[in-house]
Amino acid sequence: MLLKFKILLTLIFISPIQLFSQPAGRENFDANWKFHPGDIQGAERSDYPDQSWRQLNLPHDWSIEGNFKPDNPAANSGASLPGGVGWYRKTFKVSGTTDQFRFIQFDGVYMNSTVWVNGHLLGNRPYGYSTFEYELTPCLKEGDNLIAVKVDNSQQPNSRWYSGSGIYRHVWLTTTAAIHVNHWGTYVTTPKVSAKETEVQVETSIANEGGKRANIRVVSTILDPKGERIAAQTQSGRVDPASRLEIHTGIRISRPRLWSTYHPDLYRLKSEVYNGNVLTDTYFTTFGIRSITFRSDSGFFLNNKCVKVLGVCMHHDLGCLGTALNTRALTRQLEILKSFGCNAIRTSHNPPSPDLLDLCDKMGFLVMDEAFDVWYLEKMKYDYHLYFRDWHERDLSDMVLRDRNHPCIFLWSIGNEIPEKNHTKYGGAAIAKELDGIIKKYDNTRFTTSAFAGVWRADTTFMSDKVDVIGINYTVERYPEEKAKHPNGFFIASETTSSLSDRGIYHFPADKPGLPTPDLHCSSFDNRGTYYDRPATMITQTTWRAVKETPYVAGLFVWTGFDYFGEPAYPYPCISSSFGIVDLCGFPKDVYYFYKSQWTNEPVLHLLPHWNWKVGDTIDVVAYTNCESVKLYLNEKLIGVQTFAKTKINYYTQQWDKVIDLGEGQKSSLDWKIPFSPGTLRAEGYKNGKLIATEVVRTAGEAAKIELTADRSHLSPDGKDLAFITVKVKDSEGNLVPDADNLIHFDLSGAGIIAGVGNGNPISLESAKGKERRAFSGMCQIVVQSTDKKGDINLNASSPGLTGGKIELTSN
Ligand code: GAL
Repeated sequence: MLLKFKILLTLIFISPIQLFSQPAGRENFDANWKFHPGDIQGAERSDYPDQSWRQLNLPHDWSIEGNFKPDNPAANSGASLPGGVGWYRKTFKVSGTTDQFRFIQFDGVYMNSTVWVNGHLLGNRPYGYSTFEYELTPCLKEGDNLIAVKVDNSQQPNSRWYSGSGIYRHVWLTTTAAIHVNHWGTYVTTPKVSAKETEVQVETSIANEGGKRANIRVVSTILDPKGERIAAQTQSGRVDPASRLEIHTGIRISRPRLWSTYHPDLYRLKSEVYNGNVLTDTYFTTFGIRSITFRSDSGFFLNNKCVKVLGVCMHHDLGCLGTALNTRALTRQLEILKSFGCNAIRTSHNPPSPDLLDLCDKMGFLVMDEAFDVWYLEKMKYDYHLYFRDWHERDLSDMVLRDRNHPCIFLWSIGNEIPEKNHTKYGGAAIAKELDGIIKKYDNTRFTTSAFAGVWRADTTFMSDKVDVIGINYTVERYPEEKAKHPNGFFIASETTSSLSDRGIYHFPADKPGLPTPDLHCSSFDNRGTYYDRPATMITQTTWRAVKETPYVAGLFVWTGFDYFGEPAYPYPCISSSFGIVDLCGFPKDVYYFYKSQWTNEPVLHLLPHWNWKVGDTIDVVAYTNCESVKLYLNEKLIGVQTFAKTKINYYTQQWDKVIDLGEGQKSSLDWKIPFSPGTLRAEGYKNGKLIATEVVRTAGEAAKIELTADRSHLSPDGKDLAFITVKVKDSEGNLVPDADNLIHFDLSGAGIIAGVGNGNPISLESAKGKERRAFSGMCQIVVQSTDKKGDINLNASSPGLTGGKIELTSN
């Protein structure tokens, strides 16, 4: 029963808060689980013998530990890695259960998890991307208790991309007193934001799980970005046994520091719940103060300033770590995205980990939080369409309830390229309306959207008018037509580009559409689209140009920021995608510099391709730059000067069976055709007549040595921290050997372990968990993880015929 009481409102000025008791709160529950691959009868029972099971710490993804095989049922879209069933068990001690309530939260289990405690069934959750909680209290006993989790990812294929398998996000144990803040029990909004003053509105949901009616007090304290208390309010109420009380508070803050992508200032709300004079719960909520709005003529506004959304779509895997969540790996992904000017993430096509949202809050990324890739109509035989009927309301509500305090979120997406939009008979409009309504029941402060593959089809089925912002996937040439149909509509390019490229791979010529090639690779000249793209050239730059020059399109989400496992460009043995701006290791592809030249103010001058060709070959040379003009020299002889002039851009678009010419426009790259001779290609970039950037590419000799560089040399001895080590094969002069594929062997000793190895090659079937890796286009990667011991970590890299490399890290 939900009771609403008239609240006694007392504004108090900050006074020292008296702590009478400290509730145990929330603890991380990732350590010391036991794991068994495959299904077993009776493993939920407390007395089941699990001594021989593997011991591990979560998060864990068992698929990435397996081998890539063409007959794995996840098939091509799932990276040809194994799925199947796996069991996890954890024994934990409980003492002093009286008056304590315990809950277990799983941030995400892929998929179909069933959870038991001491043999009692707690529940089943099909969707692998939902966060869920079970109460343990009635089934606990003094002493040892056992949680058992069965994860069933055996029905395949169930995803269009690599999902991973297992308890791949964090697990939490929360212990509370009878009177406590409910799960996801606070909602903080700032409906009116101004630089002078803001009112922070807080809703707090209090549960009374005890047997007595309680007179409670909630002290809501606001901590500023420096952690200092700046305001507080106290409210009182009465809550009956087995009931909830919703408390509403408004707290004024003067001269707030606004959250933005440049200054992501965060506030915290501390909610202290008192039963009489006893502090029974303390609950923290991080929030930001910012205003968001869309305008039909000019796009998206953050704090009343127009901000072009410069976003990327991301799946959730972390290269060679698979989908097993790791905070450092995720932080590094965001650092790399930020480094080329990206300011937004679309969590395609599912609710992300809470960690991603925490990091986006902290690092200043806008987020389009997406719920589904399918509704009732399937895209894959065993995908979420099997569960949508029974679970969509719960999964969508939980997503909003979990995520609605994050300032980074500006859009809620009800789905990606939902097939219902094509067929009036499936009632897509009614479903869209229902989903929009579910979101708005819990949060009215963001905008809803859906990523439509074909707005014109979504229009004919009345789906496009059920959301606040029309998400246009691809079809950039249709913007004027869509705008004419929806003059007051808000638009975002919810997915764009899908340009395929593999790092360091070049097929000539650059100015003709790139086609599939026998080497199973995709050229880096931005001329390789997917099957629905039709043959295409300059996909990236014409897409960006269309979005940039269309003020009513709020921005874009490029498909994709990082390469991901699954959805490869070719059949097996191709196992990972080639859409990324950076590869699976996080190494920049050439297109990284295109975005950096367009999305940042830093001087950028990048030349492609490498300079190891056959004498006499005609080589296309392209410069991605934001300089005004570039002089190109080959062996110090001036080849020519190029400036950005208006030229006719022949652009073959994604629209079915049509080749559309976008007309005259300014290209965003410069290019030359040069007969190859070995040596040095040097470029000088000028702005206002001043030299502001130079770039040099040299012909490399034979592979001679291995060079290692670490992103960080000091790790924390917490068993989680990571160093990403870049391995380069170089010639004796120190030039990267662009086609080197030497097999590099790693020897690691000391206080670290190998978390994974990779090279960004979509057709490498080498294990992500091995001790060796081939270089791809001259580079590979090893990821070193700390243990819980302090000490030095020594890494040696060797390969026959090459001088080895070594690096020393410390963990303390
Ligand atoms: C889109 C889809 C994405 C991905 C992409 C590949 O249509 O929304 O999930 O499949 O195509 O180009």
